[in-house]
Amino acid sequence: MERPLWMLCPLLLLALGTQAPTASAWGGPPLWPLPVSVQVSLSALHLDPGNFYIRHGPNSTAGPSCSLLQEAFRRYYEYIFGFHKWHHHPAKFQDGTQLQQLLVSVVLESECDAFPSLDSDESYSLIVKEPLALLKANKVWGALRGLETFSQLVYQDSYGTFTINESTITDYPRFPHRGILIDTSRHYLPVKTILRTLDAMAFNKFNVLHWHIVDDQSFPYQSVTFPQLSDKGSYSFSHVYTPNDVRMVIEYARMRGIRVIPEFDTPGHTQSWGKGQKDLLTPCHKDPTQQNSFGPINPVLNTTYSFLTKFFKEISKVFPDKYVHLGGDEVEYWCWASNPDIEKFMKEKGFGRDFKQLECFYTHKLLDIIASTNKSSIVWQEVFDIGAKLQPGTVVQVWKEDMYNKEVSQITDAGFPVILSAPWYLDVISYGQDWRTYYQVEPLNFPASQQQKNLLIGGEACLWGEYVDATNLTPRLWPRASAVGERLWSQKNVRSMSGAYDRLTRHRCRMVRRGIAAEPLFTGYCENENKI
Ligand SMILES: *[C@@H]1O[C@H](CO)[C@@H](O)[C@H](O)[C@H]1NC(C)=O
Ligand SMILES: *[C@@H]1O[C@H](CO)[C@@H](O)[C@H](O)[C@H]1NC(C)=O
Ligand SMILES: *[C@@H]1O[C@H](CO)[C@@H](O)[C@H](O)[C@H]1NC(C)=O
Ligand SMILES: *[C@@H]1O[C@H](CO)[C@@H](O)[C@H](O)[C@H]1NC(C)=O
Repeated sequence: MERPLWMLCPLLLLALGTQAPTASAWGGPPLWPLPVSVQVSLSALHLDPGNFYIRHGPNSTAGPSCSLLQEAFRRYYEYIFGFHKWHHHPAKFQDGTQLQQLLVSVVLESECDAFPSLDSDESYSLIVKEPLALLKANKVWGALRGLETFSQLVYQDSYGTFTINESTITDYPRFPHRGILIDTSRHYLPVKTILRTLDAMAFNKFNVLHWHIVDDQSFPYQSVTFPQLSDKGSYSFSHVYTPNDVRMVIEYARMRGIRVIPEFDTPGHTQSWGKGQKDLLTPCHKDPTQQNSFGPINPVLNTTYSFLTKFFKEISKVFPDKYVHLGGDEVEYWCWASNPDIEKFMKEKGFGRDFKQLECFYTHKLLDIIASTNKSSIVWQEVFDIGAKLQPGTVVQVWKEDMYNKEVSQITDAGFPVILSAPWYLDVISYGQDWRTYYQVEPLNFPASQQQKNLLIGGEACLWGEYVDATNLTPRLWPRASAVGERLWSQKNVRSMSGAYDRLTRHRCRMVRRGIAAEPLFTGYCENENKI
């Protein structure tokens, strides 16, 4: 579509400066998650896409060799103006003097870091003041978050002109671990779908992809050491993640300041492992209804641990993050109880018929294996509940909704860091606006000392895959997960439901504009998006 000629008229453009953007309950720009401090002035700058630059500032320690930032500069230019390019002829009116040149100068206080981590500094400050927008960050991770915020400040006024108000923003996250759990075992998710999810995560300032990569139903992870695991355990030969796929996901995530934490859940949830690894699972006896049925990983065989040692050695090299998630949830004991070899072993060890002790025996060995690879472990809450002796720093993820605050109290009282997921099981769906329930959670609302509260490192929104594949993952996740994103990033006092509704509605439209099929919160429509 051609720009109407009158858009070229400088006088009209000048007049545009007084146009108010669409009124809203919040009044400010649709920032999501809301930064720690935001001041927006009435002074509006009209941007010229052809005269808009994002550059390293002169004093920035990270230079053009920081490909992570170079990529981000390109990406955010597209997010800001891309929509314009699809819908309008390349603007010829750019020489019009009324459009301000804007240079976004990014000043980093350190070199370009390789991988994000739990203690990555994501803070930044942003000052937009003609003719410069100055984005300052200690680390590249903060620069990425600041670019996202900058892009959210730009809006199109009612004449379609890209506009940003002079603003001052200071920002940093409330919790360092802000994750999304995806499940690629119940249904395989194409790499493309995972990458789109990483895009959306960056729009919401999430920084951890918890990749529940294998489970009972299928084993899509292609291991170099044990290729038969996915050869036999995946849904089909095309439902696998090759080493190259995994590298691609990790790199795409890194570029967005997102850690990838793989979960290899054992000793339960392992039916698919048994297909490619003989003698790994416990043969169940005394179950006349099922021939050749298998239970959890067999904890009494030495071969189990030599397998796990080799397997996790590979995992520790493939995934750069310091943490590996070991699962440990929902271990059923009936199969172990039916097996005479296990009974004999337990008698020798003096465990009697206490299967928790057997599970602890397995867990201790596995934790030692992980420690020997110099990684730290994350486990589901049951591992703590059965009384396993955990290495200091082992992170416990709380998922059971029942009395979860009490559970968090107990775990932090024992000195272990916690990730909260219990109130954020997004696979559970209902009629209406369940994002409100997620939003109203206060993660630190458990009885504890300040020291204990410091051990709550964050949370994760979990989208289990029983009823989710590539067709519905995105709308089921967004914008519902956005509510969790703001809860984990923004300050405790950011709780206004009407303000959140207003910003989230517009943030959702922005995600749609950026190609994320986020579902609507309620009735209404998106501006600048005729087709939705
Ligand atoms: C941005 O500037 C315009 C023009 O002065 C003003 O009408 C609008 O209220 C400002 N936006 C905010 C969020 O202050
Ligand atoms: C760069 O650093 C020099 C010396 O510290 C200082 O004088 C100058 O103002 C800085 N420039 C910018 C753009 O921050
Ligand atoms: C398993 O390993 C333990 C400890 O190294 C050893 O004592 C035991 O004999 C081994 N069992 C078998 C069946 O090899
Ligand atoms: C683990 O870290 C220690 C100390 O940094 C180092 O000596 C050792 O080689 C590392 N081991 C592995 C398996 O990377």
